[in-house]
Amino acid sequence: MADRVEPPPPIPGARLLFSLDPAVAHLNHGSFGAVPITVQRAQERLRDEVELNPLRFFDRGLFDRIAHTRRHLAAFLGADPDRSALVANATTGVALALRSVGLRAGDEVLTTNHGYGAVRYAVERECARAGATSGSVDLPLRASDTEVVARVRAALHPGRTKLLVVDQVTSATARQLPVATIATVAARLGVPVLVDGAHAPGMLPVEVDRIGADFWVGNFHKWGYAPRGTALLTVAERWVERIEPLVVSWQQPHGFPANVEWQATLDYTSWLSAPVGLFTLRGLGVERVRAHNAALAAYGQRVIATALGVDPAALPDPGGPDVAMRLIPLPAGVAATQPDAVALRERISDELRTEVNLNAWGGRGWLRVCGQVYNRPEEYERLAERLPRLLDDARR
Ligand SMILES: Cc1ncc(COP(=O)(O)O)c(C=O)c1O
Repeated sequence: MADRVEPPPPIPGARLLFSLDPAVAHLNHGSFGAVPITVQRAQERLRDEVELNPLRFFDRGLFDRIAHTRRHLAAFLGADPDRSALVANATTGVALALRSVGLRAGDEVLTTNHGYGAVRYAVERECARAGATSGSVDLPLRASDTEVVARVRAALHPGRTKLLVVDQVTSATARQLPVATIATVAARLGVPVLVDGAHAPGMLPVEVDRIGADFWVGNFHKWGYAPRGTALLTVAERWVERIEPLVVSWQQPHGFPANVEWQATLDYTSWLSAPVGLFTLRGLGVERVRAHNAALAAYGQRVIATALGVDPAALPDPGGPDVAMRLIPLPAGVAATQPDAVALRERISDELRTEVNLNAWGGRGWLRVCGQVYNRPEEYERLAERLPRLLDDARR
């Protein structure tokens, strides 16, 4: 059968690297990641070091250790470390970009209808503060890359659009967008672009500097096996002097990136242990993990869609071979609003002991499953077997 999808072979031993509850199927790596035990231990050792002598930890060499970590993480992504700063998360990177573009009354910030909800709130607040307006470019779920680029280009207003925010991999719709082409097109029109690469590090073979965006931010705490609170913001040369830290502290006179990274007395141990996450990923084989995760997510998507009677040909295209998150449309009327989607996600968690992502998008409910090295085909098969009855029940 031409469209039969086989699960990938497991990566031996990989499941044992994680401390996840074995009684639960964790099919939602994308939301908050999962930290390998090696990384948890590295962070514990760092915390022990802090508590042994907090003064020595903070006062002697911590800036250098942070810079070393930044260089390591930037190199992994093909980003210039001198134009990059460690930040807590993608949300913080977005806030920094929005603050730094210097919005004024009459300006515009654009997002897309696939954008992350919290990012949309940030855009709306910064626009309201400045008297600017926010808008959204409508991208149909099944739009080709060419159509995506054309729609984005048509929505830009050179001179007025002060920032376009576009996701490298979207959250609710699990779609890889052609961010490099969009950045090129927008640059020709003089419109700055912020790429929200929250899911990219570890999932996609990213070369940040080749994308050519004005701002790029990505999380290492999702697919890069880092402790939560680890992300990298990279800015184009022309923005380096214009980045406005959200919190001003002792490194302010030193400028970017130190003034963004140093946020006074914080727990910096997540950043410092992030390289161990990359060692763990490299130890398994970055390409191998990528291929495994995408193939397993595709397998899961197919078995669940089949169980729900969804025609495989109608499944949305993820927009690239490495996307390790896949969507399944739910029957019409199920989880069509966000509160209903949250309620259904919680029922699946409680009753089927399975963690998934579930959102209302475009007037219908969508289930998102991820693939990760700790997942097994049986976990998706078990969900596929039990989900139809739960959905019937939810509709009553
Ligand atoms: C596209 C996108 N942007 C931003 C975020 C926010 O990430 P964080 O909570 O780490 O800031 C997410 C989280 O899932 C996301 O998917």
